[in-house]
Amino acid sequence: MKSRNLRVQILTILQKNLNFVSGAKLAEKLNVSRVTIWKHIKKLKEKGYPIEITKKGYKLLMNKDIIFEDKLKELPYKVYYFQEVTSTMDIAREKAENEEKALILAETQTSGKGRLARMWYSPPGGIWMSLIIKPDLNLKESYILTYIASISTALAIKDITGLKVKLKWPNDVVYEEKKLAGILLEIRAEVDKIQYAIIGIGINVNNKISNLETQAISLKEIFKKDISRTDIIINLVKYFDKFIKKNSNEILKSWKEMSCTLGREVKILTTQEIIKGIAFDLSEDGALMIKDKFGNVHKIYSGDCIHLRKIEK
Ligand code: BTN
Repeated sequence: MKSRNLRVQILTILQKNLNFVSGAKLAEKLNVSRVTIWKHIKKLKEKGYPIEITKKGYKLLMNKDIIFEDKLKELPYKVYYFQEVTSTMDIAREKAENEEKALILAETQTSGKGRLARMWYSPPGGIWMSLIIKPDLNLKESYILTYIASISTALAIKDITGLKVKLKWPNDVVYEEKKLAGILLEIRAEVDKIQYAIIGIGINVNNKISNLETQAISLKEIFKKDISRTDIIINLVKYFDKFIKKNSNEILKSWKEMSCTLGREVKILTTQEIIKGIAFDLSEDGALMIKDKFGNVHKIYSGDCIHLRKIEK
């Protein structure tokens, strides 16, 4: 068994046990020697996992969800995990020149960024991550990355929790109209060719929600227990890698199937105007199509979207 797999297994066993687990028991379960177990416990402690060591054995001193950094290494991404950063987007920008595919994660962000330069509250317990990729896309095609990230986030949450989440245009994952996750896309391009893309994903998992956010919710609030962030991240990244290979029609089709914006009366606020009408489709180039009360069709590429009433079919 690879060393890091062994560490994942040790942590999994310790996490499931409220009491001490002896070295002998771990060794027997994992079919290795007690010395090997001890070596890996030492390594885990060095990595910052709070493990208490006594004569009775080993105990993980937290009943909270922890991110299993070693487990994430099964992904074809270079993983960077920090306790605290300003924003994973800042770290990703620093790493992007030299990394092909990387995943930057942090337990907390002191200066998390949302869309439209808004602040993103990022206390411990959430998933605050940025993916660095170098896709073979031109600038005009880059909008598709936000759709892929939203779909992947929604599917990962669905797979791990069974929750029927929906997608709200442009980039939110919602549950009963409350925001569970958001996506922030940053592109660096030269002339028309993308050099790299940084996809920031924030998911309210086991974290507190800011008092100022009345329209947000966390998975912990819904399920009244901690949800494994590691499992969500692994699933999400796998979906992302799967969807990025698909063509844009397929991707937009998947987004539409999960959307709660289409078929609704909406108010769109762009930097130039406010448009009210029925959101009825996505165009081939990824814009939200709105029909206003005069029958005029508007193609919206970016803006804020407020859901008004549902249109009866
Ligand atoms: C939004 O809905 O406004 C987008 C929110 C994106 C938040 C994530 S958290 C990880 C990454 N780092 C940031 O500072 N922002 C994104």
